[in-house]
Amino acid sequence: MSNSRIRKAALAVILGGVFVGSAMAAGVPVNTRVPAHDIKTDGMLGRTATPDEIQAWNIDVRPDFAGLPPGQGSVATGTKLWEAKCASCHGDFADSNAVFPPLVGAYQASKQDIKTGRVAALVHGGTSIERLSTVSTLFDYIHRAMPWNAPLSLSWDDTYALVAYLMNLANVVPSNFVLTRDNVQQVQDMLPNRNGMTWNHGMWPGKEIGNGGIPDTHNVECMKDCAPKPKVETFIPAYAMNTWGNLADETRPWGPIRGLVTVSQAELKKAEEKKASAANDPNAKVIALIKGSGCIACHSFGDNKLVGPGYKEIAGKYAGKKDMVAELTTRIIKGGSGVWGSIPMPPQTISEADAKMIAEWVVDGAKQ
Ligand code: HEC
Ligand code: HEC
Repeated sequence: MSNSRIRKAALAVILGGVFVGSAMAAGVPVNTRVPAHDIKTDGMLGRTATPDEIQAWNIDVRPDFAGLPPGQGSVATGTKLWEAKCASCHGDFADSNAVFPPLVGAYQASKQDIKTGRVAALVHGGTSIERLSTVSTLFDYIHRAMPWNAPLSLSWDDTYALVAYLMNLANVVPSNFVLTRDNVQQVQDMLPNRNGMTWNHGMWPGKEIGNGGIPDTHNVECMKDCAPKPKVETFIPAYAMNTWGNLADETRPWGPIRGLVTVSQAELKKAEEKKASAANDPNAKVIALIKGSGCIACHSFGDNKLVGPGYKEIAGKYAGKKDMVAELTTRIIKGGSGVWGSIPMPPQTISEADAKMIAEWVVDGAKQ
């Protein structure tokens, strides 16, 4: 197959994907104009999503509250939920600066803020609630992403209550307030920074990558006498080729996108030799296991803290204490809290044998 044939075939697959996508949305069978044998669907395109599946994904809440189901929650209920599910990371009054900058902190909406819809103090930075211009964003984000260690676990009523609690903390609603689908627009109309969102600036102020800060949100497509269509390409400049190691190694093993080989043949050979010798090195095996088990999202291998302590730091506490292996194995599987600070470690999906291997490696000094 010549190069251009390959490209055409690839294009057919991409267009096929788009076509199937839109046909699916309309609930009609997959379009048959593209001969079936031209689309390689194995493992890439599946069946039509069921209405239940679409509903499970379709959870966004928009600025006009489209997508927000009926529900209600009081400040009082929100206070209890906050203490149980949020305070460990964000502080009792949403004022912690440890995991994330304060959500509310000492901010108290003034009468003037509520009247103008512009938070005067924002010129000095601002907490999340000071900057917020759409209440819908709070609903959407909290329901979708929080608590951080158990996203999508909150009911809509829980979410109403938590939004009510944060709004009360910020002095927008009184402490006996009950937030409902019917009065949420009134809260939006009082939101201190509701008029603070601006479109009148570009994403990229610089001249080199950007366009000098000209806003692109109001662009209309040119229909007549247009400049030639720009050719869009991506490439890695030679000097940056090896900045992140071999990108081909980082590509997921499925899907159509293949990573580039960004190291030289000599380096590739060296890496392969290292891999071969690592297969016999027990420490390398544990390190690979930790990398493959998602632990490094929260733990570094050194002694610097990310969300949790670094492995060197943990080893410093337990090195040589063989009697801790069983306890650490359990803590890895079940999670824990209070040993290293207020942020909890959520339970991990990992076999007991693997967790034990990691615990032994920690007690052995977390060697690399
Ligand atoms: C285990 C720690 C943890 C817990 C528990 C937690 N959060 Fe968060 N929260 C975070 C982190 C980390 C971020 C920043 C995430 C990011 O930017 O990707 C965040 C971000 C947020 C934000 C967005 C702030 C912004 O300005 O973008 C809101 C709102 C929020 N959390 C609310 C909650 C609520 C409500 C709960 C309880 C139901 C909760 N969080 C529980 C860690 C936590
Ligand atoms: C979401 C973040 C997160 C993830 C993912 C995570 N941890 Fe943790 N881990 C923590 C936090 C936070 C602590 C500190 C808990 C405490 O203070 O008791 C911790 C503590 C630990 C400890 C020390 C326990 C103790 O009692 O001293 C070990 C060992 C550990 N984690 C191993 C792992 C392993 C292995 C994995 C992957 C299978 C993992 N962690 C995944 C956040 C995480």
